Parts: sequence; structure tokens; C-alpha cells
Amino acid sequence: MTESPSPARAAARAPAMLTTLPADKELVLKVIPMPGDCNANGDIFGGWVMAQVDLAGSVLPARYVQGRMATVAVNEFVFKQPVRVGDILSFYASVQRIGRTSVTVEVEVYAERFATQGKYLKVTEARLTYVAIDASGRPRPIPPRAEDDAADGTLTTE
Ligand SMILES: CC(C)(COP(=O)(O)OP(=O)(O)OC[C@H]1O[C@@H](n2cnc3c(N)ncnc32)[C@H](O)[C@@H]1OP(=O)(O)O)[C@@H](O)C(=O)NCCC(=O)NCCS
Repeated sequence: MTESPSPARAAARAPAMLTTLPADKELVLKVIPMPGDCNANGDIFGGWVMAQVDLAGSVLPARYVQGRMATVAVNEFVFKQPVRVGDILSFYASVQRIGRTSVTVEVEVYAERFATQGKYLKVTEARLTYVAIDASGRPRPIPPRAEDDAADGTLTTE
């Protein structure tokens, strides 16, 4: 008689859920990991993914900060699915909050298997905060932008 697998084991074996790309976020980076980016399991090293997310997350804040900035916090980071060598990774970002000196962004990462392009799997989601800094590395106020007068209200600004 064959024993049925536990629900947890069945979930682990089930194919990961495909999804659609987010309409409320902007594509800020695409990159393909290579064998040198792997961990001992042969999956892509989490630290490599974090570095790419940090780069991708900085793209939208740079529009507001207009100058030097630093990552002050990785507020949340979830590795939802492993990333494989050769996956095409797409990084989508949106601004969640603009403070006096900081900008917080949400980043979602989607993988397309190289041979089955057009089918997307969400592999990572994260929230990071960047701070505008002056020449001495101290926080400085984010300059006002003319475009903000015409903002559509989707951002929380302070
Ligand atoms: C970034 C840095 C200049 C901030 O200096 P600080 O004296 O801690 O700054 P403050 O406490 O005044 O906070 C500055 C902003 O960061 C925000 N912030 C600080 N810690 C935070 C956290 N854990 N999560 C979210 N936001 C945070 C504050 O709310 C504030 O934002 P606001 O002005 O929009 O409200 C300083 O911490 C630093 O140099 N850190 C090292 C940066 C670095 O090396 N990063 C990695 C490589 S880029």
C-alpha cells in the first residue's frame, strides 16, 4: 500500500504558482544569475539576490533624493522561491513612503525560467529605506519636486 504524503510534503513538491507581473510597480532592473552566484545547494545565493534588490530598490529613490544616498534599512525581506542559474529576473519597485530625509520602497522579484519565457514566478519581496545624505554622510532633506504637485495621491508623503 502506498502512503499518501503529508500536506507539508505535498505542498513542497507542488509546482510553484505562476503569477502575473504587477501593474502598480515599475520595472527597474533585469538580470540573469550565473553559476558563480550559487550557494552550496546549487541554488542562487541569497546574498546575491539581496545585493540586486538593494540596487533595484535604489532606482526610484534616486529620482527624489537627487544626489548621494545610503541604504539605512532592509525593513523586510522574504525569499519566497529559490532562484536558479539562468533564470531571467525582473525587479519591480514602487515608492511606499517619502519622509523628510528618507524614501521607502517595495521591491518584488519575478523569475522566468530561461526556456519557458512569459511565465512568471514571484521569488522575492522586500521593503527597503534609503536616506539622502550630504557630503559628510549626514542625513539631508529631500528636495521638493515640481512633479509632486501633480501627484496622483498613491504615495504617502510627509
Ligand atoms: C543612513 C545614515 C546616514 C542615517 O543616519 P541617522 O543619524 O541614523 O539618521 P536618522 O536617525 O536621522 O534617520 C534618517 C532617516 O532614516 C529613517 N530611518 C532610520 N532608521 C530606519 C529604519 N530602521 N527603518 C526605516 N527608516 C529608518 C528615519 O526615519 C529618517 O527618515 P525621515 O527623515 O524621512 O523621517 C546612517 O545611519 C548611516 O550612515 N548608515 C550606514 C549606511 C550604509 O553604510 N548603508 C549600506 C551601504 S549604502
